Amino acid sequence: MSENRRFFTHETLEKNIGWLIVCTILVVSIAGLVQIVPLFFQHSTTKPEAGITPYSPLRLMGRDIYIREGCVGCHSQQVRTLQAEVERYGHYSTAGEAVYDHPFLWGSKRTGPDLARVGGRYSDDWQRVHLRNPRDLVPESVMPSYPWLERTALRTDDIAARMQALRRLGVPYSDAEIADAPEQLAGKTEEDALVAYLQGLGINKRNVRADVAAAAALAKE
Ligand code: HEC
Repeated sequence: MSENRRFFTHETLEKNIGWLIVCTILVVSIAGLVQIVPLFFQHSTTKPEAGITPYSPLRLMGRDIYIREGCVGCHSQQVRTLQAEVERYGHYSTAGEAVYDHPFLWGSKRTGPDLARVGGRYSDDWQRVHLRNPRDLVPESVMPSYPWLERTALRTDDIAARMQALRRLGVPYSDAEIADAPEQLAGKTEEDALVAYLQGLGINKRNVRADVAAAAALAKE
């Protein structure tokens, strides 16, 4: 070891676990920031896509029931950009479709099928029968039954607070829409709300074929 050893050499890093941890975190976070920060400013990730509007009060309640019942534990809501997925479910999911989703429900577990484009795939009646007892429609189904949703009246007293919370996060609900919300929920059941939510999922691109859309985008370039 020479007398005039520099204060901080590569050897310091290799032999000192503390320095190694600090420097590794520093390097990895720079790489992370370079990838993540621009996403907060790109229009494709921050602006709603054509056909995407804030959830109506009924659909918003349905979404919150979906969260409460843990549907996201078995169902993803993101069609990946793979041919097999696009052929099965429809157009792949895009960031601009999820700008009003706080929190997003993309999920990562698929015990059941992806639901990102399930809106309109079945009738309302099918959805109701399926929620009450999935085995009445799909005998081998392992999905739980949710019979209480049909019997439970929807709460109307906290919808304003839910919408105000979302407004704080950037969802453009007007005062009039918030004031009007409890009336729209009157007399509805939790099942009505959940079915309304499901029937709206992905309908903005329900009939858009991904391959045709991609070809059109290429032609524009
Ligand atoms: C334990 C896992 C599990 C949970 C939890 C679960 N599901 Fe399912 N779901 C499945 C399975 C498996 C299928 C496929 C068989 C069937 O259609 O019943 C399915 C099918 C569906 C379908 C039909 C999709 C299609 O394209 O055919 C819908 C809609 C659905 N589930 C909604 C829900 C909702 C809403 C909830 C929460 C209230 C929920 N699921 C909770 C497992 C689950």
